[in-house]
Formats: sequence, structure tokens, C-alpha cells
Amino acid sequence: MTRVLVVGSGIAGLWTAIRAAEAGCDVTVVTKADLGDGATGWAQGGIAAAIFADDAPARHAADTLAAGAGLGDSEAVRVLTDDGAARIRDLIRFGVAFDRDDSGLARGLEAAHTRARILHAGGDATGAAIQAALVGTVRRRGLRVLEHTTLVDLVVEGGRVVGIRAIAAGRAGGASPVNGGAVVTLRADALVLATGGAGCLYRHTTNPDVATGDGVAAAARAGAVVADLEFVQFHPTALAIPGTPLISEAVRGDGAVLRDAEGRRFLLEVDPRGELAPRDVVARAVWRRMAEQGGAPVVLDATHLGADRLAGRFPGIDAACRAAGFDWSREPVPVVPAAHYAMGGVATDLDGRTSLPGLWAVGEVARTGVHGANRLASNSLLEGAVFAERAARDLASAAAVPASVPAAGDPTGHAGPDAAARGVSERNSFDTHEGAAVVVREALQALMWEHVGLERDAAGLAAASARLDAWRAPDVVDRRTAEDRNLLDLARLTAAAALARTASVGAHTRRDAPVPALERQAA
Ligand code: SIN
Repeated sequence: MTRVLVVGSGIAGLWTAIRAAEAGCDVTVVTKADLGDGATGWAQGGIAAAIFADDAPARHAADTLAAGAGLGDSEAVRVLTDDGAARIRDLIRFGVAFDRDDSGLARGLEAAHTRARILHAGGDATGAAIQAALVGTVRRRGLRVLEHTTLVDLVVEGGRVVGIRAIAAGRAGGASPVNGGAVVTLRADALVLATGGAGCLYRHTTNPDVATGDGVAAAARAGAVVADLEFVQFHPTALAIPGTPLISEAVRGDGAVLRDAEGRRFLLEVDPRGELAPRDVVARAVWRRMAEQGGAPVVLDATHLGADRLAGRFPGIDAACRAAGFDWSREPVPVVPAAHYAMGGVATDLDGRTSLPGLWAVGEVARTGVHGANRLASNSLLEGAVFAERAARDLASAAAVPASVPAAGDPTGHAGPDAAARGVSERNSFDTHEGAAVVVREALQALMWEHVGLERDAAGLAAASARLDAWRAPDVVDRRTAEDRNLLDLARLTAAAALARTASVGAHTRRDAPVPALERQAA
């Protein structure tokens, strides 16, 4: 029986686990926090799929490719959009109660979609509904789960990935507990990375604190091909109050508009689609208008939608605005861009296979090619479901994995505590300065925000790269130090990728290269 180790527990990880187990694999899910934690549960807007009579997968595909600024992989996009309807049916089977109206399933509109095709649940709590349904399925079916277990490195033997080294907090008991945890090796026939994104590279992010790029960094250290790391999506409308959630694009899809300090609806000066232009266009316009007005936030004006509509359709955002002291039915609310989504990641084929035998990647950690240079709104949950399903089928096929890999431990593959207490990691493969100061996360985040953020240029990127090279990773002794090492590695890779791509395209805006004008009009 194929032993599958899934690292990560958002939509892509849990979907892979559930479906691989259904297909007869012996599955273990490893996650560094609780099973329900992660970005999936935070997703507000919804999940896009071409399931309505006025729509078609080919139309959804065209919108996805246009939003991606021409860099999307058309075959991956075809798979994404063709498989959408089936995955929505699966979600309903898993217990997700999508919102309904008089015509059946309710649907919203979001930026750069030429049809209203965004399914939602609980108004603006779609991700939470999906996460709850998948966690419930995993629990009911008794899948093996190791929570609070942090990926440190992939274990590669004979050119094949055969497991991970991890820190299992609360599982001390070996001779060398590490900050209350133990270093363990978990072996498997197939390893699936589903570790999500890396918003924590930046000072301002819409992501939860688990989004530290662990999978991409570990895969890169192991020699896997990674791609498109320069394409980081910034969401244009995070509420400008630290610690508060973003204000979903679905609110703009419902009619809310952005205004500058003078009260002007400035987006129409930039793009005829206004607030419903692709996300990179809107985020860049917000960023630039903020700069022009001395850094002051712009405002999102939803007042004309009315208190009943706002509270009924967007109950979570309504509560968050009110908790932050705003009655958004009466006054526009201040918004700013924040790091939101990684279009790049570990390069995969259409079945989630990476360049390393034995290693698959699904969800935000993967670079499937569907997003190109800018992800279309509400395609991320869909990507997680579609490619997790394909990876699970691939894992279940005998051809994908060897009959066995050597030296299995107990049935979980958990081989017991390793000997080392400190410095569990291999020497960071990207470190160049042995004597350098250990990276401080907040300083790294500030540097990335300033020089590798929404707008970049050669001088800033070179300065950032030099600063990143001058830091070294900490010894890995716990989750925090493992994450800091990953953030440093990924920051270096991201800055290098951004430096190498000298043209502005999609979310990669170079101040020192012109932004192509309106080449991405919807069909
Ligand atoms: C949002 O609700 O605005 C975010 C949805 C997404 O990132 O696709």
C-alpha cells in the first residue's frame, strides 16, 4: 500500500489526503498548527467555476489567461476550468452548503471575470465553510494526522524524495528534545507538499502567520525546480487597520468603489473596467494614488449598498469593520494593498508532480502555471481542489510511486526522534556569509516590503539581495527558527527572480520598465 505523507492542511492538502485514502493509499497528514489553521479558512470571496447557463469553461479560461497577463499555461488553465464543475459537486458532497437564492446556487462577480461565477458560502465565509467540511471529513474517516509538526527539510535518497525531517512539538521523549519538541524523520513512498503561500515575507499581508513559504524553501533546498517567484499578488483592499482582515473583492463586485483623498473615483482614470480591472491593475493604482497623496490610504465606498445588503451578504466583513470602529454603510473605509498570494512556487505538471521523483506539490505552494503573472480572483480554492484531485489519482496509480522505499519506521512512517538537538537543518544552502548576523524576521519583512514589494526596480532589488545575503539563517530548533530560515531562503530567491525579470508584467511591476497599457482587455 502506498504510504503518502501530505504536508499542509488547507483545501489542497486535505483534498489530496481524503481522495488518496479513498483510493487505498495509507495517508498521514502533517501540519504545523491545528488542522483547521491556514489561509483556506480565511478566504472570503469564494470559488470560481463555470457552472451557470450563461457561462462556459472556455470563457472562464479566457478570463484566467487575460488576468494572467499572457503568461498562464493554457493547458493547465483548460484543466482548471474544465474540471471546475466536478470539483464543485465534490465540495457539495463533502458537505459545503453554498449560498442559494431564488434561482438556485447564488453567484457573485469579482474583478476581471466576464461572468458572475463566484460561488460563496456563509456570505463571505466560503473558505471557512470549505475548511470545516474537509476537516470534518478527515476526522470522521479517522485519517492519521500529526498536528504541530513543522517541516524542516525533505529527505532525499538516491535522487528520490523519501520523507521529511520535522520538529514535532509536544512529542518530546527522545534523548534530545528541541524546545519541547523532537526532531523526527517521517518516511513515505510519496510526499505531497501542500504548505500554502508566503505572505509573511512581507510586513503587510492578508495571510495567517503560518504562511511562511516552508514548502517552496524546503523543495528549493532539495533541488526541486521552482518558478515564477517574482509574481507576488498584492490585494488592493486590506482594511488599513493592523490585524484586521481584507475587504473582499466581492464587495467591489457588488458595486463598491474606490476613492482618493479628494473623493475622486480614480480607478476609471487608469482602466475602463474601474474597480473590476485585474487585481494587479487595481493594486498598482491604489499604491500609486497613495504615494501621490503622501501615503494616506484610499477609501472603499460601499455606502450606497445599504446596511441590510452589507450585513446580509458580507456578515464577516461587516462585523470586522464595526469592530474596527467603522460603520461602512455610512462612511467609506480606509484600505491599503497587502501581500496576498504567491503565483509562483514549486513547478509541477498537471498531476502535481515536481521535478524530484517522489515529490508532489498542490495548492498555493505549487506553480501549476494557471495564474501566469496575476491570479484571477477566486481561482485559488479551485486550483487547490482541481490539482489535488489529479494528484490524488496520480498517487493512487501504481506507476507513480515505487512499491516501497527503504527503512520504514512504524506504520506512520514516524521513525522516532533523531539524535541532534540543535542545528537540525543542513547548512542553509543559500547562505554565503558564515559570520553574518542571524536574520530578524521583522527586518526581513520590512526590507521585502520596501524593495521587493508591489513596485520594484533594479537598484532596490540589488540592495535587497545584498542585505539578504549578509544575513544568515538561525539554527533550526523550533517552528519559529524553521520558518525564519525558510523566509530568508525564499526572500533571496524572490529578490533574485524579480531582479532577473527586467520587464514589468502582471503583478511584477518594475519602476524601471514601462507597464504595458491595457493589453489585457476582457474578451
Ligand atoms: C477576496 O475575497 O477578495 C480574495 C479572494 C481571492 O483572493 O481570490
